[in-house]
Amino acid sequence: MRSAYPPGPRWPAAVQSVLFQRHRAWLLPAMARRYGDVFALRVPPYADNLVVFSRPEHIKEIFAADPADLHAGEGNQVLGPVMGEHSLLLVDEDEHARARRLLMPAFNGASLRGYRDLVSDLAKAEVDRWITNTEVITLDRMNALTLDVIMRVVFGVTDQHTRDQLTPRLHKMVDISPIVLIGWVVPSLNRYGPWKRFGDNQTEIDNLLYAEIAERRRAVDLEERSDVLSRLLQVGGDTGDAPLTDAELRDQLVTLLLAGHETTAAALSWTLYELARHPELQHEGYTAARDGDDKFLEALLKESMRLHPVIASTARKLTREQEIGGWKLPAGTVVNTSILLAHQRSDNYPDTWTYRPSRFLDNEVEPNTWLPFGGGVRRCIGAGFSLMEGTVVLREVLTRYRLALPAGSEAERGRVRNITNVPRRRARIVVTAR
Ligand code: HEM
Repeated sequence: MRSAYPPGPRWPAAVQSVLFQRHRAWLLPAMARRYGDVFALRVPPYADNLVVFSRPEHIKEIFAADPADLHAGEGNQVLGPVMGEHSLLLVDEDEHARARRLLMPAFNGASLRGYRDLVSDLAKAEVDRWITNTEVITLDRMNALTLDVIMRVVFGVTDQHTRDQLTPRLHKMVDISPIVLIGWVVPSLNRYGPWKRFGDNQTEIDNLLYAEIAERRRAVDLEERSDVLSRLLQVGGDTGDAPLTDAELRDQLVTLLLAGHETTAAALSWTLYELARHPELQHEGYTAARDGDDKFLEALLKESMRLHPVIASTARKLTREQEIGGWKLPAGTVVNTSILLAHQRSDNYPDTWTYRPSRFLDNEVEPNTWLPFGGGVRRCIGAGFSLMEGTVVLREVLTRYRLALPAGSEAERGRVRNITNVPRRRARIVVTAR
């Protein structure tokens, strides 16, 4: 075991923090070149001591570790003000195991098959509205579509009114500016300007959710409903679990609504952008969509998430001193598995910067190198859902339209919006009817 702490820059913590928040696509590769595979940063308030890993054997060690030693919930505390203290993302150990057990059935294979037609109908309705030979801002359209989808998964097919009220407020909530983030660290700001507006919006969302929960508690047909809220309201009775409180329900609903739409929308808009750039792959995609070959459509999505990781990393906070990757790390260290660096390693991915979906069809991708959904007991519960949703949406788009980049448009680069990596210019493409 090495006794020393991993190396890292000696710049002031504030400088490291700003670079980590705003310029991580530059910072992380630069630090990896300078310090090697494992390096340390200081990025308060997110983490005073952050150690970044990307080698497959280190990733495996972290994801397979005992969740009592590596707390993901504590590592995700930055999401607390929005998601709430009971959120699946924020709890650890027994509370996490319980929440996961209760939420998981809504996202298993059988449930996913049940959502397919819903996604397909909503995707059809969306692309029906596109006008041939015009520019579509795919990030915006995919955000609207995936929010519509996840709201129906969470609340069911009724409640149009609640959905109409929630939609603009949730869009506002995820458009968190760095200024608003400061208010999370300095609560006294929350009485003023943008911080107050953010808080007011959140209160409105909470009121809508609590009203919906109260109304649904009175519903007599809960057992016939398959939406997440109705499922969660049936917990208790003969299931052996204590029923969920209103506050717990609110936190899980907000978590699913937020974690479950922006991410998939980002992955889809990056994919549509890559297809507009690569006509030959687009043609293959069209053939696959026409013939019902989901594997190829899935490979398109997977390679987009590889090349443009939607979430840059996962976090685990050490509850005790521990050795990881041969380094001895003190309790309190936040261990960062860098999705961004793992996906850019040339030993993991030859032709690193080439968009080549076939790597996912030819069994080239080694375990612990493709990490868009994190891993271990904390692996994203929506992973299967988002791949299903993505393939269904791609099929609807590709069978209807040819995609091209607008004349003279520049290459897209990433921008961190909230915590997701989205195309900076929102992936505008020109659609032409087939
Ligand atoms: C392309 C789409 C998506 C991406 C890239 C993504 C990414 C991630 C990542 C990186 C994590 C952290 C995993 C870890 O710490 O190891 C995560 C967790 C989570 N995701 Fe997703 N996600 C996506 C879609 C979804 C969807 C559709 C839902 C809900 C329907 C969802 C709900 C969650 C939840 C609840 C967690 C917390 C899991 C836990 O801590 O046990 N995500 N996701």
